[in-house]
Amino acid sequence: MSTPTPSILWCRSGAELARTAADRVAELLTRKPGAALALPTGQTPLGLYRELVARAAAKRLALAQARFFNLDDYLGVGVDHPLSYARFLSGHFFKPAGVAVERIRLLKADAVGIEAECGDYEAAIAAAGGLDLAILGLGTNGHIGFNEPGSDWSARTHVVRLSQETRAAHAAQTQGQFHIPEYGVTVGIATIAAARDVLLLVAGPTKARALAAFRAGTTDPKWPVTALLTHRNLTVLAEAELQTSKLS
Ligand code: GLP
Repeated sequence: MSTPTPSILWCRSGAELARTAADRVAELLTRKPGAALALPTGQTPLGLYRELVARAAAKRLALAQARFFNLDDYLGVGVDHPLSYARFLSGHFFKPAGVAVERIRLLKADAVGIEAECGDYEAAIAAAGGLDLAILGLGTNGHIGFNEPGSDWSARTHVVRLSQETRAAHAAQTQGQFHIPEYGVTVGIATIAAARDVLLLVAGPTKARALAAFRAGTTDPKWPVTALLTHRNLTVLAEAELQTSKLS
């Protein structure tokens, strides 16, 4: 399916990307203090989290009534493990920003009954009134959350087998220190599509092909990020260096 060329806000620096993303979060929380947000892990959103923490410390951001969810995690990994996405979010955002634990619902990636946990997670999102904002990073292979190429776009929170490319990218990021799990657990593309607003953050040269596939404007299961092309309230923030990125 071909859609109009997606509009992208090109940011001249990581700092500009972080500030612009933080402005979006601040606008939402001003408009709707009890908003429900889903948050990504990775290098890309680190600047955003630093910016949000600084604004919260300066009392320029009201986080007290917001609800937070995460997008994904490694299956079987507990919150004390260095690879844990829950631990990452606590360390980089929740704790330094002073977010109360009762405002946070993270995927229990080491739950014994993981299928039940996936259902409970969707129920918690629904009980929060659905996601007001899903903030996403982008995988080198075009994944969003851990929804890998070829994944079912009608899926809600579920367990996924991680691709070799994803596992290799993560092994490189952690300097090969850890065995990267074969499976992940992620909100589904249908969960993301149902969010009232989506904010996609794209930074770094390794994202060039995935961004080019998105900019080609054709929905394609091989590139999960293209599922966002039909979202009515999508904002894409990308580093200006990626403006010349090509698919081949
Ligand atoms: C992982 C996560 C994604 C994230 C991606 C990009 O694969 N599952 O949710 O968007 O990494 O990470 P980075 O921003 O470090 O490139």
